Amino acid sequence: MKGNVVIVTGGGSGIGKGMAKKFAQEGANVVITGRTLDKLEEAKKEIETFETQVLCLQMDVRDPEAVKKMVEDTKQAFGKIDHLVNNAAGNFICPSEDLSLNGWYSVVDIVLNGTWYCTQTVGKEWIESRHQGSILNISTTYAWMASPGTVHSAAAKAGVLAMTRTLAVEWGKKYGIRLNAIAPGPIAETGAVEKLWPTDKQAEKVLNSIPSKRLGTTEEVANLAYFLLSPAAQYINGECITIDGAQWLNNSSFQL
Ligand code: HXC
Repeated sequence: MKGNVVIVTGGGSGIGKGMAKKFAQEGANVVITGRTLDKLEEAKKEIETFETQVLCLQMDVRDPEAVKKMVEDTKQAFGKIDHLVNNAAGNFICPSEDLSLNGWYSVVDIVLNGTWYCTQTVGKEWIESRHQGSILNISTTYAWMASPGTVHSAAAKAGVLAMTRTLAVEWGKKYGIRLNAIAPGPIAETGAVEKLWPTDKQAEKVLNSIPSKRLGTTEEVANLAYFLLSPAAQYINGECITIDGAQWLNNSSFQL
C-alpha cells in the first residue's frame, strides 16, 4: 500500500479509525471523513504516528455535493485516489411500527445513499482517469439475517451488499474496478456495540451467541480490509467476507 491513497468514510472512530490506522501503517496516505471535526483531528493524531499523511475532511455522506468536494479535495491533496472504504453508518434501535419516516430516511440515507454517492463519484473519477481502483464496503451479517429493531439498517446494509456484487460485475468487466464487502458481527469498542446492545444483560447474551466467545477487534477487521484492498486479493471481486467468530452460523438446536 506504499504511496497509495485511501479514503475511509466515518474514519474518525471505531472500525473506520482502525482501518485508517492499518492502511497508514502499511504506507498509505489516508483521508478520513466524518461529521465531527474534533473527532477526526483526534483520530489523525493516532494515525499520524506512521509517518504518512492524514487528511481530515468534515463532511456528511448524505450530501452529494459534499461527496464531490471530498473527491476534489483528495485529488488536490494527493493527486489521486486508489481505494475507497465506505464505512460511514448510522443506526438506532426502534420497533419498526414506531419508526418515523425521518428515522427511516436518515439511516437509509447514510448507509445506502451515502455509499452510493461515494461509490459513483469515485468510480466516475477512476473511469475518466482509467485508474483501476478498488472499493470496500462495510456491510454486516444481518444484511442477510433478521435484525429486529433495526429494519432501516438491515435493509440499507442488504442494499450495500447488492451494490457491491452488481458493480463488481459491471465495473469489473468494463473497467477492472474491484468491489468487495466485509460483514462484521459485534466488534468491541464501536458505536454499534454501544448503541445496539447497551445493557450488561444484552451484552452477555450477544457474547454467549458467539462460538469464539469474544467480540471481534477493530484490528482484526482492519487486517481483513487491508488484505481485500491489497494486490494479494486481485482475484477476489464481488465477495463479502464475514468476520463474526461464527456468530451468524450459530443457530443449531443441537448442542454438543
Ligand atoms: C427512534 C430515532 C432515534 C431512536 C433518531 N431517531 N434516533 N427514533 N429511536 N433512538 C429519529 C429522530 O426522531 C428523527 O425522526 C430521525 O430519526 C432523524 O434523527 P436525527 O437525530 O435528526 O438525525 P441525525 O442527526 O441525522 O442522526 C442520524 C442518526 C444518528 C442515525 C439518527 O443516530 C447518528 O448520527 N448516528 C451515527 C453514528 C451511529 O449510529 N453509529 C452506529 C452505527 S452501527 P423524527 O421523525 O423525529 O424527525 C451500525 C451497525 C453495523 O451501523 C452492524 C453491527 C453488527
